[in-house]
Amino acid sequence: MCGIVGYLGGKRDIKDFLLKGLKELEYRGYDSAGIAVLQNGELKICKAVGKLKNLEEKCKNVKTEGFGAGIGHTRWATHGKPTELNAHPHLGEFSYVVHNGIIENFKEIKEELEAPFVSQTDTEVIVHLFEKNLQQGLKPFEAFKATIEKLKGSYAILLITKAMPDTVFYAKKGSPLIIGRAEEEIFFASSDAPLIGYAKEVHYLDDGEFGYVDKEEISNWKEREKKEPLFQPLTLNKEFAQKGGFRFFMEKEIYEQSDVITQTLMGRAKDEAIEFEELEHGFFEDIQNIKICACGTSYHAGLTGAYLLERLAKIPCSVEIASEFRYKEPLLSDKTLFIVISQSGETADTLEALKMAKEAGLKTLAVCNVDNSSIVRLADRTILTRAGIEKGVASTKAFTTQVAVLWMLALYLAENFDKKELEALLHLPQALKVDDALHERLKRLSKRYLHGHGFFFIGRDIFYPLALEGALKLKEISYLHAEGYPAGEMKHGPIALADPELFTIALMPKTLLYDKVKSNVEELSARDSTICAVSSEEFELADDFIKIEPQNHPMLEYFSMSVVLQLLAMEIAIRLGNDVDMPRNLAKSVTVE
Ligand code: M6R
Repeated sequence: MCGIVGYLGGKRDIKDFLLKGLKELEYRGYDSAGIAVLQNGELKICKAVGKLKNLEEKCKNVKTEGFGAGIGHTRWATHGKPTELNAHPHLGEFSYVVHNGIIENFKEIKEELEAPFVSQTDTEVIVHLFEKNLQQGLKPFEAFKATIEKLKGSYAILLITKAMPDTVFYAKKGSPLIIGRAEEEIFFASSDAPLIGYAKEVHYLDDGEFGYVDKEEISNWKEREKKEPLFQPLTLNKEFAQKGGFRFFMEKEIYEQSDVITQTLMGRAKDEAIEFEELEHGFFEDIQNIKICACGTSYHAGLTGAYLLERLAKIPCSVEIASEFRYKEPLLSDKTLFIVISQSGETADTLEALKMAKEAGLKTLAVCNVDNSSIVRLADRTILTRAGIEKGVASTKAFTTQVAVLWMLALYLAENFDKKELEALLHLPQALKVDDALHERLKRLSKRYLHGHGFFFIGRDIFYPLALEGALKLKEISYLHAEGYPAGEMKHGPIALADPELFTIALMPKTLLYDKVKSNVEELSARDSTICAVSSEEFELADDFIKIEPQNHPMLEYFSMSVVLQLLAMEIAIRLGNDVDMPRNLAKSVTVE
């Protein structure tokens, strides 16, 4: 995920602050970086692909002592490859911008502008639009206001311009941005970490806030009203700051889901239809069936996707574990669309499966979180999940964004679908929001689930892959034995294990096969299994009950329950004293067979 820093003042070397600040944002992930400093009407700019040491090397001879304004950026590619041209800051004739987020309507804006575009990014339109507004006679702040009014999507923006030197313009909507201050100095950053040791107090900008800082003042606005910033003292703990105040990256990533899903949907889930700028309908011509291939959590997302593709798009779909697929001598047809799903884009088994499909002449599509990864480079087409960097080894936001992409893909391929699908999709940020009271309840409940001889997570239909995912989450971070099972299949064997020390986590969605699952859970309860029911409807036989908000669509229940399972696994693991972010024996990217 991109990161931003900015500075206005003269008490320190600006380049030094910007580079140190970007270093503090490294944990967010990036593939290129850049800084721009404006001092005495002179611009100094450096950009580099790869690690920050490349940028440091590039600007080692640049001197930036004295008063001035500076902006810096680490870029995690979403529009266009990680190249120097695509790296921020982006340049107009006399203005420079860094941006974090996605400008949804950048193509339309681009068409209206006559500027020479040099990058493939959505960001570049901001600086050209700003300069066009200036050329039309607007004063710099008016021009900036008019610019952000035109932008659709999400953004944290810093802009500096020779038209009004010694000033930094800023705006925030949907992506984080903080203003920090100390005596005669102003700082900006995407998170607290770069500001620690510099700013004394900080104002966390709200969505819709924008303004400028100069030597005299912080002119902060929301909509048409001036709004006084609410400065508060800054934490002094860097690690705590990087985790956004959460105990673990996994916890932060669970909480982030509601926001990142907005990025996943952006520009794709439209009022009437689904659009993917990275696809064209012709690509799917002649496709008679779909095969999905992936590992671990991504495989569970794929299993869910298969239900949706068959149900909504009416295309037969099968799912394979990549490590199995590789050696089964599969019969492949060129009428099959081959979809690989991967958070990292580097998983060796998935990559090899993709190579096999390509060699067999199949059309290939990657659903991936990391642009320019090996899988993205190899696949014919890619849909990026836009979850931002995921640090916790246990995948959370990568999973929910993968499922959201597959749901949208199913709708995209469907000849027609009920409007309720789109309404439900747009409700996803809400469904993924962590309810504090629910989290508190899961924290307390977790103490009852630290022993026993095993867990069964059960569900039907799409809730069966979710049960698999719940079990995997628990296993990998708590080291307790857990299995996911189709609820209706328990009576064919596993029910023999039922006793009070067998914990059943029952996924009981009200909108899908409720009575069927209920009967299955009753069978387990009759054999004295300890039942923890997850549902919006109270279930009298449950020993423990986790209530989710009632929803009117199975997918919304699915996403709400995903959050419950992630939090439950995490709270159990924390109570057991485990390192949730780095569980034993596991790696984030599995690049070996
Ligand atoms: O990067 P990928 O999505 O290809 O990774 C696949 C699995 O290794 C991954 O999902 C793994 O199962 C996670 N630890 C699950 O939390």
